[in-house]
Amino acid sequence: MKKWMQFLVLIASISSTSALLASGGFSEGGDKQMPTVANAKWKAECSGCHMLYHPGLLPERSWNKMMFGLDKHFGENASLDAATRDEISRFLALNSADKQDNRRSNRLNQSIPASATPLRISETRYFTSKHDEVSATTFKRKSIGSAANCVACHQAAEKGDFSESQIRIPR
Ligand code: HEC
Ligand code: HEC
Repeated sequence: MKKWMQFLVLIASISSTSALLASGGFSEGGDKQMPTVANAKWKAECSGCHMLYHPGLLPERSWNKMMFGLDKHFGENASLDAATRDEISRFLALNSADKQDNRRSNRLNQSIPASATPLRISETRYFTSKHDEVSATTFKRKSIGSAANCVACHQAAEKGDFSESQIRIPR
């Protein structure tokens, strides 16, 4: 190959790689489970009323919208002081579904239209497609409460592990 041709081939491969990255590619790559993440303030402030939702379950724009509307958080006032809010926001953004490379976060992220900023994981297309065999009455069982209570059925949900071996639907 001539030198200039090699150069063109190189450019073409670089730009296709970055196109893949920009389109949120790697849907088949990455780890299957979400990575273990930890932040003391997040754990303290975001697990008082419900389970701790792994940051890889929503894109950064969703977390930002949520964190800047905590005074009206699903009908509750979950306000924080500015320093705590900013620390948790940064942590959530850094580990969000669009900033990670694991199969579930990638798929979840791809199921959300670019124009949408959902606040509920349980309303994403990825979630509904994975739970089409779980009936609405099952989600409403006393032992479960709602679709948002992932940990009722996914024992290791707070660690970001949704593998099938960890699923048990309570009666
Ligand atoms: C004062 C109580 C309270 C606190 C504190 C709180 N939340 Fe919530 N949160 C709620 C309620 C109530 C809902 C709605 C639950 C439902 O409908 O089942 C909710 C729902 C959510 C959902 C949507 C779940 C889904 O998929 O439907 C996310 C995500 C969430 N909270 C994240 C957070 C984060 C992050 C924090 C910490 C900054 C936090 N919450 C702190 C009360 C709280
Ligand atoms: C009523 C019990 C129940 C609740 C609550 C629940 N799930 Fe599930 N989930 C299931 C079942 C059952 C499956 C397996 C479906 C299958 O194997 O086809 C599943 C599958 C999944 C999968 C796909 C696993 C795989 O390997 O394909 C993910 C990811 C997931 N759930 C995330 C969540 C999240 C996040 C929440 C909370 C916002 C949640 N689930 C709430 C029962 C539940």
